[in-house]
Amino acid sequence: MKIPTELIDEVRSQVNILDIVSQKVQLHKSGKNWFGFCPFHSETSPSFSVNEQKQIFNCFSCHRGGNVYKFIMETEGLTFPEAFVKVAELGNIHLDSRYTQLNSLDASESSENGKILNLYQQANQLYHHILMNTELGQDALDYLHQRGMSEQLIEEFQLGYAPANDILKNFIKEKHLDYQLLRKSGLFIERNQSAEEPLDNLSDRFKERILFPIRNENGHPIAFSGRTLNQEDKNIPKYLNSPETSIFNKRRVLFNLDKAKASIRQNKTVILFEGFMDVISAYQAGIKNGVASMGTSLTDEQVQILGNRANVLKICYDGDDPGQNATKRALEMLSTNPNFDLEVVKLPDKLDPDEVIKKYGVTEFERIISSQYETPINFYLEFYAQGRNLDNENDQLDYIADILKELVNIKDPIERDLYLNRLASRFGIEYQNLAAQLQTLITENQVQNSPEPTSEDQKFKKYQQTVSTLTDNFNSTNKYSKVESAERLLLYRCLNDHSVWTKLHEIENFNFIHEEYQTIYTIAEGYFNQYDEFDSARFIDYIKDDKLQSSLTNLEMEEYLGDATDQEIEDCIHLILTEYPLDEKLKKIELQINQAKRINDNHKLMSLIMEKTNLLRQKDEMKLTSM
Ligand code: UTP
Ligand code: MN
Repeated sequence: MKIPTELIDEVRSQVNILDIVSQKVQLHKSGKNWFGFCPFHSETSPSFSVNEQKQIFNCFSCHRGGNVYKFIMETEGLTFPEAFVKVAELGNIHLDSRYTQLNSLDASESSENGKILNLYQQANQLYHHILMNTELGQDALDYLHQRGMSEQLIEEFQLGYAPANDILKNFIKEKHLDYQLLRKSGLFIERNQSAEEPLDNLSDRFKERILFPIRNENGHPIAFSGRTLNQEDKNIPKYLNSPETSIFNKRRVLFNLDKAKASIRQNKTVILFEGFMDVISAYQAGIKNGVASMGTSLTDEQVQILGNRANVLKICYDGDDPGQNATKRALEMLSTNPNFDLEVVKLPDKLDPDEVIKKYGVTEFERIISSQYETPINFYLEFYAQGRNLDNENDQLDYIADILKELVNIKDPIERDLYLNRLASRFGIEYQNLAAQLQTLITENQVQNSPEPTSEDQKFKKYQQTVSTLTDNFNSTNKYSKVESAERLLLYRCLNDHSVWTKLHEIENFNFIHEEYQTIYTIAEGYFNQYDEFDSARFIDYIKDDKLQSSLTNLEMEEYLGDATDQEIEDCIHLILTEYPLDEKLKKIELQINQAKRINDNHKLMSLIMEKTNLLRQKDEMKLTSM
């Protein structure tokens, strides 16, 4: 189906790209643009920017760029029509149902991922129905109730139950879906390859398990985690997760992010739990900014996703030893990320959050979350004391060595001093000795890697610096050759200033040297036949080609100062024309000569032949000079 251009224009011009991007990326204003960490890759300094006036975004590092549709296509992996509907939705713009249907999962038949998403949606409905309304699901439902989950909560998280038989397989038999699609979905396991009827090779992956749907950021189920009801048999894993598929990348998914994102944004704080049950219990207790990684250690990708949304990350892992070890791992991986303030929540009695809520009640849990947290270093002070006898001298020395290593990461000298004093008085050691030892460690560390500032002030300074070098990069043309800089400036001017466009158009045989600029120039001709005004965001849709869209956005992000002057334009044109490869020019003239011959334009033919002779002479001269 074709969406009318006018409608595409209308939706685009009714939303503000800044609003939509800032739902996913934290942006800070500097000069004309807004900067943040690029959502498409990991980075430690911001190279992603949004220009509100032009309604475009661009990343200097990965070179992705475009308008609001492109942003949604890239961040959510949608096709153009799907992104169009999504943007309208985000802007509360009412669309005719024939467009909105595009995004209902049933209708996105087009892509394989759409089909897999659709399958998960259906499976989720089926499993949920079994849990809520059937005899098969009764034990599971009783179990959840007994764990304190309300009917409403089970509805909200769309929990389900997979019974012992191949219920999903039988359910979808009717639908005549492609066998390869079913295989790739991860919802089945393949038994043998020999059966005549291919479906007979498949069996449901999830059996006799309570299913926690894992949803993507938009709330679509993309995987399941199944908890066994069998508490006794230690050979059965407690949780079984879907395998990775084309729609489920464990490293990138955070359980509950779709529901938590509003609260995370509001509080600028995210709470990280270990288990699904913890997230859900906390949610029921009214703590809605909780997420969990997928039963694995926190990944770079997850940190990046959270870093774009929050300033404070609270780690609230289980109080038992594995939970504390996991906390240490998470702290270590986060210590190189200056974007968060880290807090470690201390749970009593080696319990997990879910158990704390059961045992002490919601109010107490809320109190613990909001006030019983410590800095990473305080966590380490306790962590390294475990399993050691701090009255024993050897253990003491090991302990102090461990703590000093952690103190190296504290960049605020006052804070460092505070802990040094504490250690000194606790173990009756000279402060000076400890300080000297720490200094040695710090120097060693500095040699290894340049230190990351951590205090707020330094963080901000560093940020400002990056932004200003970035802004310099913008303006500096030295990453391009002289002639390419001229091409870029000229193309920019002729798109944004119609008098330059007209002027350039009067020059016969004008060509940009680089193909991408020439192509954009040619496409712009079509554009200006339809529209009087240049509008980058609209032109991006007009261009259609992904690569060209990015190079246009990149060009549009240049901050050329002032207006075009005649001198500037002439200089650029001159530079380009003289650099234009002779061979290219000759080829072009050859074509024109043929054409002139065909239409018997002798006058033109004469002048072309003169020009050709001229060029050939130039070429000879160049050969001579280069010998
Ligand atoms: P826990 O064992 O702490 O689970 O594992 P839990 O959330 O407290 O579950 P309940 O309260 O016993 O029902 C924490 C997380 O580790 C992953 C799951 O993501 C789980 O939520 N896990 C655990 C697995 O992936 N597989 C397992 O076998 C166990
Ligand atoms: Mn638990």
